[in-house]
Amino acid sequence: MAATMHYFNARALKHAIEEVVKGFGSEPTEVELVTNNLIEANLTGHDSHGIGMLPRYALSLKEENGLKANAHVSFRVDHGTMIGLDGHAGFGQVIGHEAMLIGIERAREHGSCIMSLGNVHHLCRIGAWAEMATAAGLISIHFVNVMSKPVVAPWDGADGRFGTNPFCVGIPVAGRAPVILDFATSVIAQGKTRVAHNKGIQLKPGQLIDNHGQPTTDPVFAVKPPYGAIKTFGEHKGFGLSLVCELLGGALSGGATLHERANHSRVFNGMLTILIDPDRLAQDNLFVQESLAFLDWVKQSPAIEGTEGVKIAGEPEQQTKAERLRSGIPVDENTWQEILNAAKSLGVDTKHVDAMARN
Ligand SMILES: NC(=O)c1ccc[n+]([C@@H]2O[C@H](COP(=O)([O-])OP(=O)(O)OC[C@H]3O[C@@H](n4cnc5c(N)ncnc54)[C@H](O)[C@@H]3O)[C@@H](O)[C@H]2O)c1
Repeated sequence: MAATMHYFNARALKHAIEEVVKGFGSEPTEVELVTNNLIEANLTGHDSHGIGMLPRYALSLKEENGLKANAHVSFRVDHGTMIGLDGHAGFGQVIGHEAMLIGIERAREHGSCIMSLGNVHHLCRIGAWAEMATAAGLISIHFVNVMSKPVVAPWDGADGRFGTNPFCVGIPVAGRAPVILDFATSVIAQGKTRVAHNKGIQLKPGQLIDNHGQPTTDPVFAVKPPYGAIKTFGEHKGFGLSLVCELLGGALSGGATLHERANHSRVFNGMLTILIDPDRLAQDNLFVQESLAFLDWVKQSPAIEGTEGVKIAGEPEQQTKAERLRSGIPVDENTWQEILNAAKSLGVDTKHVDAMARN
């Protein structure tokens, strides 16, 4: 049965979630970075990476070798334009932010920077990091692996062998919103199976296999044992991109790759980021002119009936954000209860949190 939906005002929800994040023992800056990042994921329509992650984070905090509050990034290696960073199991929202500030500074100085980041808790919506780079006028490319349960099956394989390994590219566009291409290489993000399960709805055919490797639409096979696996997008090509994300985001980052010796009970990410200053590479404003001309040309393709027409990557998120700022952030009752239960486990006054969100 479909669960009841709440529509929380973004600002009220943000204040409520700050109270929950304080329960992790976080310093004020960490409370702000974690809360803003999660609320932004909800605002941009990625509920799978929004406040619904908090119960998972609370479990991870309590686990040995899980999430560490108030950790900060440090250098593992430093070769100027090539840097390797360690996240010390800290909140991805903090470590990702600190790492991007370092990478952006290096790319501004040298024109480019290759940055690897390992040993970091969930980096959440990778597009948030691309948005930081594009706001600084830089292109950024991200290959990410996920150190958790192996929930995605390889092409022609019948069980999970790796995570939803996201890939992301951010490109600044002069005078316009940036292009932000940001997706899981699984046909759907894992959190979307949790969202569907909590809402009591089925997945689309072709997204999931059950514990016997057979097609299913029941999200339970991605949420509870006996586990099945999510499929990669784009058949063998998507599988290839997942594989590359694992090798570049995992093996190269000083983190780890997901194999039988890996720890499956927490969500860590590894990320390889490539930052490029387009002004140093393209001359005579050519990058700006050609980008604008191409984006206009693509948008002029006639809309297929029943669609809103061509959208550029990043546009759906901007549209959803504008709509949710107007009419509220939808949170289903099951997810809200899971968040309140997690808050309780952290010693937070849940009645106060609930009242603040409904304000
Ligand atoms: N940290 C992690 O471990 C982890 C793992 C997996 C996914 N994620 C995140 O989950 C989020 C959701 O991933 P997803 O795979 O569900 O995303 P998705 O399937 O919604 O795809 C999103 C991308 O496709 C673009 N897009 C969507 N509709 C479009 C349309 N009609 N026309 C043109 N472009 C369109 C969006 O602008 C965006 O770039 C991402 O932010 C990703 O970074 C994180």
